[in-house]
Parts: sequence; structure tokens; C-alpha cells
Amino acid sequence: MNIIVTESYEASAAYVANMISELINRKPDCKLGLATGGTPVPIYKNLIEMNRAGKVDFSRVRTVNLDEYCGLTGDHDQSYRYFMDTNLFNHVNIDKANTFVASGIGDPAANAAQLDAKAAEGGYADLQLLGIGNNGHIAFNEAGDKLIAESHIEQLTESTIKANARFFEKESDVPTTAITMGMRSILAASCVVLVATGAAKTEAIRQLICDGAVTTHNPSTFLKLHQNSYVVIDRTLAEAAGYKG
Ligand code: F6R
Repeated sequence: MNIIVTESYEASAAYVANMISELINRKPDCKLGLATGGTPVPIYKNLIEMNRAGKVDFSRVRTVNLDEYCGLTGDHDQSYRYFMDTNLFNHVNIDKANTFVASGIGDPAANAAQLDAKAAEGGYADLQLLGIGNNGHIAFNEAGDKLIAESHIEQLTESTIKANARFFEKESDVPTTAITMGMRSILAASCVVLVATGAAKTEAIRQLICDGAVTTHNPSTFLKLHQNSYVVIDRTLAEAAGYKG
């Protein structure tokens, strides 16, 4: 695991946006695994600026997203399809036919099978971007006694529902289930980049970077088993987590 400590979250976002743009420039038809939530927003802003400045071309890039809330249609303003369209896809020259966000509507088993098929189609992601939940979840693979390899429907934990309530009018509006990519497709990416900031992530990050354990009680710790994984955090979070370098 490569641990990158930056001076600020802005610097982390610029660092990761550069990793992504360098990959696209090296491999214009690369496949990106993308995440939603608050953390990637400044990364996507950087990529939009680079695209406008002619520094990166998305015309042949393919993307697959990690997850989607169950029960929300793609045009719902809290769906992850809507998030991706409004925070990235609508503002760069990507062909939306080359983007995939799982459906949270319809037959759950068929949707999960489709997500696994899309993750594998033409090879797994060249780069998988990840945020991390306060409880260490990656995508919506929640902390608990077991993890599931395949894409599946996950019951969101109390901690995740509370954390995500900030995006909804009220906590009871947050869907309680989501479709998520499973651990296998995430870890099959050639390169996995986890980005984190904020005090709420301290304990999850401490377990990830200051402790040797790999545990289903913090799914992010499985990144320790990946040959080409990066954790990008700002100095404030690194110090809070007790990281000594
Ligand atoms: C979102 C996702 C989640 C988030 C995590 C952190 O697609 O997969 O695992 O990355 O919940 O969310 P934020 O960035 O809002 O703190």
C-alpha cells in the first residue's frame, strides 16, 4: 500500500486528479471505477477544469460506478447516476453510453449480476477510485462479520445512514439499502486509490495505515492485500490517525 500525505485536502484532490489524467493520457480508452459522496467532488472539479483546458480527453474513457441507492431512479437528485451526471459527466467530453451506474430499481439480483458483468467487461478498471465510510466501508460493503465477493444488495448501517443524511432533507429520506459492487471487482482493479479527509474518518484510517490487521470490521483494510493500492490523505488526518510516515 502506498500512503501519500498531502498538505491539504485540496492538494489531495489535485494529486488524485493528476493520477487520473495521466492514466487517460497514457491510455485514452482506459476504464475508470468511480465513486460518489462528498470526497470525490473536488477531484471531479479538477478533472472538469483539465478537460476544459484541453489537458485531458474523455472521449474514449469508459467508467463503472461503485454503487447506487435502491429505490431511487436515475433522475432523482440524490441518485448516484444524477450525482455523476451533474458532478462530472455533463461537464466533460465523455460519451455517456460509455458510463455505467447500476440501477437501484427493478430486479435486485439481475441488477447485481449486471454490475458484476459491467465491472468485468473488457477487463477490470485500470484505476478504481474509493472514498471510505466512517466505519471503514468501501463502496457500500459495510463493516460486519463477513464481506461478500459479488455485487449485491446491502443493508446500510445506522452509521452510514446518519453520515449520508446530510445530502437529504431528513434522515428518514435516506434509502436503507443500496446495490454495491462486491469486494472482488473492487480488488480486481489494476490500481486502487482511496481518498479520505475529515476527523470522522480518523479511526477507520488509523486501522488502514497504522495497523497490520485485515478485517471485515473495516473493509478498507483489504487494500493491504492489493499490489498497487494508494491511500491519499491530508496531513491533518494523517496526524490525527497517528501516522508516523
Ligand atoms: C460512494 C461510496 C461510499 C463513499 C463513502 C464516503 O460511491 O462508495 O463508500 O465513498 O461513504 O463518503 P463521503 O465521501 O461522502 O464521506
